[in-house]
Amino acid sequence: SSSIKQDLIASIRNIPDYPKPGVMFRDITTMLGNARSFRRAIDELVHPFAGQKIDKIAGVEARGFILGGAMAHQMSSGFVPIRKKGKLPHDTVRIAYSLEYGVDEMEMHRDAIKPGEKVILVDDLIATGGTAEAATKLLQQMGAEIIAACFVIDLPELGGRKKLEALGVEVLTLVEFD
Ligand code: PRP
Ligand code: HPA
Repeated sequence: SSSIKQDLIASIRNIPDYPKPGVMFRDITTMLGNARSFRRAIDELVHPFAGQKIDKIAGVEARGFILGGAMAHQMSSGFVPIRKKGKLPHDTVRIAYSLEYGVDEMEMHRDAIKPGEKVILVDDLIATGGTAEAATKLLQQMGAEIIAACFVIDLPELGGRKKLEALGVEVLTLVEFD
């Protein structure tokens, strides 16, 4: 409902000029630090999947871990971390992706997803969609059936949603900021 949405928006802190001049950073630590806001956000994220059996929640480092861990617990699903390169100890699949400046690589354990498993991808925010697009490709490479990609925050002007929809992924977001 709109009051839940307004409460969520109010619980997110806005930091001007972070990490660089001209950027308004949407900081979810205030949402996470408030017990009711955190619970509401998780409730809203899992609500669309009530009654569905989801095998795995895949969370993107770093804030996707916090949200995805809570979602996995509430949905009785497993959790799969998608990490910056070099952090995972076993055999991985890796993909390069573009950042605003330069490129980076993310990876996932090769045995983390079995073909045909139903997976929900989660992160705190979708901006250009580069991060979520790369995570989607990794998951699809391993045979995941991506049921949806979920984000607390959408920055619609940056077009991330369209990038995921082009890969056939349904995108669900809770609040939007310019
Ligand atoms: C942020 C955010 C997403 C990504 C979104 O992560 O948590 O993962 O950027 O941007 P995009 O849609 O343009 O790809 P950040 O780069 O701050 O990394 P961190 O979570 O490890 O701090
Ligand atoms: N918050 C968190 N992550 C981000 C943001 C933001 O405002 N913009 C791009 N990635």
